[in-house]
Amino acid sequence: MSEPLSTERLQELAARHLWMHFTRMSSYTNGESLPIIDHGEGSYLWDHQGKQYLDSLSGLFVVQVGHGRQELADVGAQQGGRLGFFPLWSYAHPPAIELAARLAEMSPGDLNRVFFTVSGSEAVESAWKLARQFFQLTGKPGKYKVITRQTAYHGTTLGALALTSVPSMRAPFEPLPAGARKVPNTNNYRRWTDGSIDGLTDEQFARATADQIALTIEMEGPDTVAAVFLEPLQNAGGCIEPGPGYFQRVREICDEYNVLLVSDEVICAYGRLGTMFGCEKYDYVPDMITSAKGLTSGYSPLGAVLVSDRIFEPFGQDKNSFAHGITFGGHPVSCAVALANLDIFEKEDILGNVVNHQDEFAAMLNRVAADMPIVGDVRGDGYFMAMELVKDKATKAEFDRDECESLIRGFLSPRLFEEGLICRADDRGDPVLQFSPPLVAGPVEFAEIERILRIVLSEASDRVVQ
Ligand SMILES: Cc1ncc(COP(=O)(O)O)c(C=O)c1O
Repeated sequence: MSEPLSTERLQELAARHLWMHFTRMSSYTNGESLPIIDHGEGSYLWDHQGKQYLDSLSGLFVVQVGHGRQELADVGAQQGGRLGFFPLWSYAHPPAIELAARLAEMSPGDLNRVFFTVSGSEAVESAWKLARQFFQLTGKPGKYKVITRQTAYHGTTLGALALTSVPSMRAPFEPLPAGARKVPNTNNYRRWTDGSIDGLTDEQFARATADQIALTIEMEGPDTVAAVFLEPLQNAGGCIEPGPGYFQRVREICDEYNVLLVSDEVICAYGRLGTMFGCEKYDYVPDMITSAKGLTSGYSPLGAVLVSDRIFEPFGQDKNSFAHGITFGGHPVSCAVALANLDIFEKEDILGNVVNHQDEFAAMLNRVAADMPIVGDVRGDGYFMAMELVKDKATKAEFDRDECESLIRGFLSPRLFEEGLICRADDRGDPVLQFSPPLVAGPVEFAEIERILRIVLSEASDRVVQ
């Protein structure tokens, strides 16, 4: 074995050769401040110099069962030794078959067919293509458009990016594929306003927001709209809850207009909200679920689109096939790891851990928020929560772009990291801090999050008040 490289040498090489994602590379031209994460265990990570961090983001909403699970690595190694690769193009292999059957068994309604991808973006992209071909096969070729919500993030490949509603991510790549329309999201702290919804109850607001989908379908023409893509709990914008009755109304609308309901659960599936699938938390059955991330807890990459029998049916007839494939989709090593990951869910009652501790998690964040003038709102569900940061709690006054930049990028992100807390400070919508700890975390981790938040948010509040 060659000698391990020093931290300095790794930083130097990274600064010269590694292109990090969504990263201002100019920050690292001298390489010195680049964090290099070396290993992990449970909810904790250690950098290359041995400093410990609490990972309250699960990597990137991924590592459900925690870091350092040797049994998952071992399963991957065993499968790699037996069958390191074979595609699902006209062939199959036992891990993909077993995983598809297990997901079909676990998922709600008649979601019984699984199309594997590698990533979440590919799952979203595949689901849009699937919806379009479904309508071609069923005699409605004009139905190709999709509806998504303001600020929502659905991935970065061009199709998925067309669904994404974050202007700064879209702008460099426009024009994007045609056909994606946007509707308001369910943010109840900052309601979308057109005057007509002032004073509505939460239920009425949720219904009015769902009705915007019907209005958009009518405006576009029902014969042109194929699908609506919605996350159960919307990530970008800060863990935006659907509101009571929202998804029930959306389901009605989709049925009325023959539009497919796609539940984008790249984050919300596999326990994040305390249920195996996010749609179960809010009690609706979609036509498709897009998923990735937590399916393997990140020990090997894998995405999956779960599809209802009804949508699969025309693809299973005559000479038809879904005209789409990805070499590494359903990789045998990843499928074997996913099966072992799901075994851990069962053996250790991972969902039970979330259900038993989610109130405590929310209570901790609310306690911190109550003492911090800078925190305007706490929202989310399960182990997926956010704090919205405001200039003035009483008026909900927002930071302008420059203030956001200096608060989020200039202060909060580096200070939290310095104190040993990995979470997400995000300003794709209003500025928020997001927390999604591994699903094995509990009171010990919450206490640590609280301790660090109190230090850093007090400092941030002082900076804002001055
Ligand atoms: C809801 C949603 N859809 C799609 C994606 C894209 O997934 P990936 O980064 O694996 O391509 C993400 C990523 O965070 C997501 O949150």
